[in-house]
Amino acid sequence: MSYQKEFDAFKQNPEAFWKKQADALPWFKEAKNILSEDEHGIHHWFADAEMNTSYMALDHHVENGRADQAALIYDSPVTDTKRTYTFRELRDEVALCAGMLKDLGVTKGDRVIIYMPMIPEAAIAMYACARLGAIHSVVFGGFAAPELAVRIDDATPKVILSASCGIEIKRVIEYKPLIDSAIEIAEHKPEHCVVFQRPQATADLSHPRDIDWKQAVSKAQAADCTPVRGDDLLYILYTSGTTGKPKGVIRENGGHAVALKYSMKAIYNIDPGDVYWAASDVGWVVGHSYIVYAPLLHGCTTVMYEGKPIMTPDAGAFWRVISEHKVRGLFTAPTAYRAIKKEDPNADLAKKYDISCLEAFYSAGERLDPATFEWLEENFKLPIVDNWWQTETGWAIASNMMGIEVKPVKPGSATVPCPGFDVRILDENSKELGPNEQGDIAVKLPLPPSCLTTVWGDLERFKTGYLGTHDGYYTSGDGGFYDEDGYLFVMGRVDDVINVAGHRLSTGEMEEIIGKHDAIAECAVIGRDDELKGQMPTGFVVLKNDIESSEDEISAELIALVREKIGAVASFKEVYVVPRLPKTRSGKILRKTMRQIFNGEEYMVPSTIEDPNSLDEIKALKA
Ligand code: COA
Ligand code: AMP
Repeated sequence: MSYQKEFDAFKQNPEAFWKKQADALPWFKEAKNILSEDEHGIHHWFADAEMNTSYMALDHHVENGRADQAALIYDSPVTDTKRTYTFRELRDEVALCAGMLKDLGVTKGDRVIIYMPMIPEAAIAMYACARLGAIHSVVFGGFAAPELAVRIDDATPKVILSASCGIEIKRVIEYKPLIDSAIEIAEHKPEHCVVFQRPQATADLSHPRDIDWKQAVSKAQAADCTPVRGDDLLYILYTSGTTGKPKGVIRENGGHAVALKYSMKAIYNIDPGDVYWAASDVGWVVGHSYIVYAPLLHGCTTVMYEGKPIMTPDAGAFWRVISEHKVRGLFTAPTAYRAIKKEDPNADLAKKYDISCLEAFYSAGERLDPATFEWLEENFKLPIVDNWWQTETGWAIASNMMGIEVKPVKPGSATVPCPGFDVRILDENSKELGPNEQGDIAVKLPLPPSCLTTVWGDLERFKTGYLGTHDGYYTSGDGGFYDEDGYLFVMGRVDDVINVAGHRLSTGEMEEIIGKHDAIAECAVIGRDDELKGQMPTGFVVLKNDIESSEDEISAELIALVREKIGAVASFKEVYVVPRLPKTRSGKILRKTMRQIFNGEEYMVPSTIEDPNSLDEIKALKA
């Protein structure tokens, strides 16, 4: 099969193309309307189907010969634990967890926040919600209490599911005090907070809303799968936009299952029964799609790894997991490959393990830089696949389609659009650009299955933020170009979103936090290039007059403030006090020019600049 043939099949008849992919899944009732449009002009896939994601990923396999196959392998170097769940065991645990949620009054459409570390109970909780038709919202464990509070207020969950702690290498991070503090900050008060006690820390469960997970599950009855519609929501996942308020990206059950099932073979060339490992976190979209849902929908074994690429215990950790569990495809962020490369430049630790089972490396979260690509290629002689995608889509927009036709790779390019995505490069007047011309990367509507159909509780934000820039297109927020061979190059965000160690963060949000400090007159945060994490936030602040504290004291306070409000994951560690910020005559801060100067890129002095000397001050800091 050729890529072009597959892509043409989609272009000629998207509905027939996706109907064919949907036939591979067990529906309670197949959709009559493959693609429909609602009263707001938004497209939905498989809206009138009847289904249950938990049934498709678990029960169906138990009933069809995979009951004793490994479904989930938990490998935790930080607790020295390994445990395998068969499909039957996982289904049974999920059904009991769903029974517990049912006992707490959770029904179809209710929201449940899951704030958990990388333990099997996180995946069990997600599937338990899916089983009841409840909508989960997983919040990454590295976020601080105020971030959790914003999500509690937006999603208004009935229940929070959590664990007593997470483990960052050797550091035990207690979750319960964070949750209590978040609930105190939030206006919405969840009815229950269920905590899975881990031996590394025991949470205080004295508040009337607190419940011990294991005790509650021990009293629960297994719950059946509640039939839901294809356009009923499976989850909300918050992601950073340009403002302080995160966007609740929503995912519908039907399209999600179809796109993910299709992707496992078409993109990753993985077959049912294979072991697939996404070394990410359940708090991010990669974790949702490729740790929890896609491998199991496809009848594969997934690996849930509670550890890091390095230091747990060393840079050979990934190779150990691959060899021990016979992993066929590894998916992670470039920052993880870079961390390994830094510690073990000649990949000597990989030679200690038999990793002949591994067939390809997959990478996403940020552009796979050519240096990292070359290191992987030189040391492992395996295909390396750069996937471009976003929380909003839930699966890759562009990739080398390993299960369809393997194209020659061009380092720095995510290869070609995945069938389903009609990707165009547009200028500011929505005119399509030709080869090697850089512009906005947009996707012609309708978007394929799995992509968001609104922002939770904010249709206007969805319409203006994503559909408002280019009429008839979804605007990705990334800029890039096609080369003369039709290869897509994604060059980075055109807005204030940055990617730090594969974590998507908003510089606008950091500015809002810093700007509230008493000593600050004004500020700007930009993403500076970083060898390990891809980008690191860097703050520039102008102090008010008559400030008594020293610049060092204020910088330390700002760093602590961002950590307290967003979390350690923001990696905000660099602040410069400057006499003024470069601005246009109309007062717009020249963030892009500052970023270009700081990253040593070419830049043009804007004709509208207020005072060109202000740029020299930034240049001097860089020097
Ligand atoms: N809970 C609590 N804290 C967390 C956390 C979590 N789940 N995840 C990260 N943090 C903390 C870290 O401990 C660190 O704290 P520190 O500033 O006190 O040291 C801080 O947040 C920044 O974390 P990170 O950016 O991950 O940096 P790191 O130096 O700890 O690790 C890597 C660097 C490359 C090893 C790490 O980023 C990594 O493994 N990345 C994989 C990428 C990935 O999973 N991306 C997801 C999308 S695919
Ligand atoms: P997230 O929603 O956290 O997955 O982040 C999505 C953003 O990460 C995209 O809009 C891009 O800016 C960036 N990104 C993800 N994958 C890639 C990639 N393969 N190449 C370039 N940028 C990427």
